[in-house]
This record gives sequence, C-alpha cells and structure tokens, in this order.
Amino acid sequence: MRTSVAIIGAGPAGLLLARLLQRQGIESVVLESRSREHVEHRQRAGILEQGTVDVLRDCGAGERMDREGLVHDGIELRFGGAGHRIDMAALTGGRRVMVYAQTEVVRDLVALRIESGAALLFEAEVSEVRGADTDHPRVHYRHDGAEHVLDADYVVGADGFHGVARKAIPAERVRTYERTYPFAWLGILADVAPSTDELIYASHERGFALHSMRTPQVSRLYLQVPPDTDARDWPDERIWDELDLRFAVDGDWRLERGPITDRSVTPMRSFVAEPLRYGRLLLAGDAAHIVPPTGAKGLNLAVADVTLLAQALTAALGHGDDSQLGSYSDTALRRVWRAEHFSYFMTTLLHSDPASDDFARRLQRSHLDHVVASAAAATSLAENYVGFPLGARL
Ligand code: FAD
Ligand code: DHB
Repeated sequence: MRTSVAIIGAGPAGLLLARLLQRQGIESVVLESRSREHVEHRQRAGILEQGTVDVLRDCGAGERMDREGLVHDGIELRFGGAGHRIDMAALTGGRRVMVYAQTEVVRDLVALRIESGAALLFEAEVSEVRGADTDHPRVHYRHDGAEHVLDADYVVGADGFHGVARKAIPAERVRTYERTYPFAWLGILADVAPSTDELIYASHERGFALHSMRTPQVSRLYLQVPPDTDARDWPDERIWDELDLRFAVDGDWRLERGPITDRSVTPMRSFVAEPLRYGRLLLAGDAAHIVPPTGAKGLNLAVADVTLLAQALTAALGHGDDSQLGSYSDTALRRVWRAEHFSYFMTTLLHSDPASDDFARRLQRSHLDHVVASAAAATSLAENYVGFPLGARL
C-alpha cells in the first residue's frame, strides 16, 4: 500500500492530523494497534483549551462538542480549609476552557473518518519504521494475521509514549529530558452529579485531590496516591472517605457520592524528546512529550503539534515548500516547554511530596497564598491554564 502521509496511532493527535490533512486534500492512512472499542473508551483527559476548541470547530468536528461540552470560566484552588476562585475569563480577556472528554473527541473524529471512507485501520500494530532518513520511508505493520508494508512520503509518529516511532530515531540524534514524581493519580468516574459547578484543585497535607466532571450527571475525580498503588486496594468507600478528607472546607459544602464505574492509576512523568523530526519521520503528541496531568495540557499539546504539522505537510506536499517542516520542531517545542513548565509548576504547587520537610511545606503554602492574593500571579496561572493562542509568541 502507498499513501502521502502514514500516521501511526489513532489517539487525538493521529485522528485530528488525518482530519486536517483530508480537509486540504492530502491523503493519509491511520494505523492503530488497538480496537475501535478500546480507543473510544480509554478514560483520559477532560479539559479543552480555547485554541483546541477552535481547531475542532474549524475542521467540522465541533458539532457535538458545542452541544454537550460545558464551558468553564474559572477554577477553584482549595487549601487551608477555604476555596479561592481563579476567574480565568476575567483575567485573560475572556478566554475560557471546555469540559469535553477525550473519549468524546476521539469518538467524534473516528466517526467522521469512517463516514468519509478514508483509511483508518484498527488492530493494525506497527512494528517498525524503516528508511526515515531516506526519500522512501516505510512502515511495517501486522493486520488480520499478516505482515504488511505502507510506503509514504512522510511518516508521523502519533503513537503515544510507548509507541515505536520514536525508537526509529538513532540514539545519537535524539536528546531526552525526563522527570518522574513520587506519586501517581487514582482517577475515578462516578454516576453522580458533580458537587461543584467549576473544577476544584485541592492541596491538602494528605495529598492532592481534583474534582472534575464529564456531564451534569457524571463526576470525574482524582486522588494523589503512591506510585505503586493498586487500584484494587481502593474500594469505593475508601475513595469517597479520602476525597471527603481532602476536600474538607469550612462551611456547609459536601461531596455527593455515587456508584464508581471506572478506576485507574496514572503515573506522573515529565518527558521531552528533541528534535521532533528525523528526516521524513515527524513526532507529535505523547510520542514526543509527556506532562504530568495537573495542568490539563497533554491533549491540548497534541492538538497544537498536529495543527502545525498539518500546515507544514500541506505546504510541503501541496506546494513543494518544505520550509515549515524545517521549523516544525523548534516552533512546537516552544509550546511544549511552556506546558512542561506550567505542568511542573501546578504539580509541585498542589501535591504533597512525601520527601519534603517543614521548610518546603511552608514555602509551598506561601506560594499558594500568593497565587490567590496577587492579581499578577493569578493572571499568569490563568493565561497558562486557558492556553496561549496558536501562533502566540511564547
Ligand atoms: P495517545 O492518546 O496515547 O494515542 C496514541 C495511539 O497510538 C494509541 O491509540 C495507541 O494505541 C496507538 N499506538 C501505540 N503504539 C502503536 C503501534 N505500535 N502501532 C499502532 N498504533 C499504536 N491529560 C490530561 O490533560 N489530563 C488527564 O487527566 C490525563 N489523563 C491521562 C491518563 C492516562 C492513563 C494517560 C496515558 C494519559 C493521560 N493524559 C491526560 C494525557 C492525554 O490523554 C494525552 O496527552 C493524549 O492522549 C495524547 O494524545 P496522543 O494522540 O498523542 O497519544
Ligand atoms: C481533568 C484532568 C486534568 O488533568 C485536569 O487538570 C483537569 C481535569 C479531567 O480529566 O477532567
């Protein structure tokens, strides 16, 4: 088989790139190792930046998002038994975020792709990318019990952190940066109306907790837990009791409980592989970089990468101009590193580090007090959280 752009991975990065290219008349094939059922039900991110919302809308993938997504103007930081609202819209000239789950974004993009008749193969596992530094890159994959080869002009590795694309770059041509954290997140979905209108990020000496949501009937909550946690050690009641302790606030607020329908543990890591290009192989999304989830940036970074990449590939394949492909890595990495810093900042500001001492804890509390007391500090948090417009100077 032959195509213009071979896309490895049908996560948000791969699916959106395929959609953006299709709108420009550029052919691609998407290869995904897992089943459609699996990729449409994998619980992950939930917050879309304004720029992400705009891109999805502009490419015709925003119809259900606009109907069902929840627009949020602010978040609450909760610590020391009190809540403090960060009014993001007021602090950023009206920029907002949308609560619309990654599962729904993926479902919408898969449906559009299938409806259009363009190639998207599930249960097609890529084993290797060969010839990335030649004019004839080839993708080797297994599908329907047989080995196949896909020839392409360009290959995009949108296959997540554990994918194979990044491994096609020789070790001496890539530099990686990494940080692991001494905690993980236990995430749950519960069939109960959210106990709050806006997200609550709670910093507590027992650990961080986050109250998010999926719909007016479904809550999404997270607890900081030790990295080796087994979700089976957390029966429903233990989770709700711990959430109660960490969200405790002076006043009569209470957390409503309901049946837990999904629970999983997510490790926390920061990771960047540079550059994002090796010959005719380009990396996008989690294949190239990971952020700890506290700033809600992972999915949004994937969208920003492929928005740039779609423009660059369109210029190269449609008009013979490969200058944007030449600058793709540097341009994308500026946003990546901004998000890396913000995610690290939010993580260290809000989590309780088991190795920290009294001095570090007092500094952390002073930082929290400052963020909610100072308009300058709150504005910085707000503008990072809602996200910088695509093309902004970072
Ligand atoms: P992915 O969504 O990982 O998609 C990559 C795709 O490639 C997958 O479908 C995979 O099956 C496929 N693939 C892998 N290897 C191969 C292969 N060899 N051949 C073919 N296909 C392959 N971000 C937040 O902002 N908030 C959160 O709460 C949050 N929670 C998360 C929880 C978990 C468990 C994980 C892993 C991530 C979470 N993230 C969160 C991050 C966010 O979900 C990611 O940043 C986002 O999914 C990145 O999209 P992507 O398309 O780059 O990668
Ligand atoms: C969600 C995840 C996040 O990492 C975050 O910061 C906010 C919300 C969510 O899954 O809803």
